[in-house]
Amino acid sequence: MARKLILDVDTGIDDALAIAYALGSEDLDLIGVTGTYGNVLVPTGTRNSLAILELFGRTDIPVYAGPDHARARDSFEVMEISEFIHGKNGIGEAQIPDASRAVEEQSAVEFMVESVRQYGDELVIVPVGPLTTVAAAMEADPTFADNAHIVIMGGALTVPGNVTQWSEANINQDPEAADLVFRNAKDITMVGLDVTLQTLLTSKETAEWKALGTTGGDFLATATDYYIKAYETTAPYLGGCGLHDPLAVAVAADPNLVETLDINLKTDTEGETRGRTIGDEARLNDAAKTGHVAVGVDVERFLAEFMRRLTGLAQRTPGRDAAAK
Ligand code: BDR
Ligand code: CA
Repeated sequence: MARKLILDVDTGIDDALAIAYALGSEDLDLIGVTGTYGNVLVPTGTRNSLAILELFGRTDIPVYAGPDHARARDSFEVMEISEFIHGKNGIGEAQIPDASRAVEEQSAVEFMVESVRQYGDELVIVPVGPLTTVAAAMEADPTFADNAHIVIMGGALTVPGNVTQWSEANINQDPEAADLVFRNAKDITMVGLDVTLQTLLTSKETAEWKALGTTGGDFLATATDYYIKAYETTAPYLGGCGLHDPLAVAVAADPNLVETLDINLKTDTEGETRGRTIGDEARLNDAAKTGHVAVGVDVERFLAEFMRRLTGLAQRTPGRDAAAK
């Protein structure tokens, strides 16, 4: 049976690839997309999520808006580096039509809380942006932390951060939320930079999408080529772009894609290490380990699955010439 999934995104190019991964997966049933801030503002991100779902013919999947700034702040502005990596519109300046529908009236927090109550172990929540919405869900319902299964893209345990030496971008946006989530979640898998910088895509793969001649293939190729170009400037030594967010979705579908280290996690919220994800010394000797940090990944198998699922999905969208008429 397909595993039910809520994807919490700041859409974002790799967030778009994560949505596409979920849509192309028969072993996942995407029951809702929740929108957070980060790569873009919440309204831009939810606009992108709605437009992407429509492009791939999935107007049946609802989109909810979450809190629009971090817990310790009262507003949010997109960082210059985010705009450089994802483009002003968040999807690498790819142009896709606005959706014919809007976000749901129910909030992302309410939707998460309700879904965990309703589906329990059948559901996995995959946040691939700041953890603000998940932290708010934990506060809204005292049973949430015990019952939710969470696989995040975020953090770095064995490698440096990508915003500061210590801190990865999603955690850096809201360290207080990340700390609350790590300390309270009963089942949280961290898919961080330790593994997501090992899963890289190049223009060789995006050329395969372009060659499909479909609207879906064109969108995936245009957005991802922009992202690859940004990586050529920010991290030329990698030789491709990091498939951060889709790897977390892939792990939700198939946990065996990664090797994990069981450890109780926390996030530093003070001083120069603010935003660092690390073991919680106060729970070091607890028998129960609630955190599972991905430290190894089957790169070849993931990339094969990634291309199979996304190419299959893009193949099923209308031809670019028919769509242009
Ligand atoms: C994470 O930060 C965001 O820019 C990406 O979408 C990804 O979720 C990588 O550090
Ligand atoms: Ca993201």
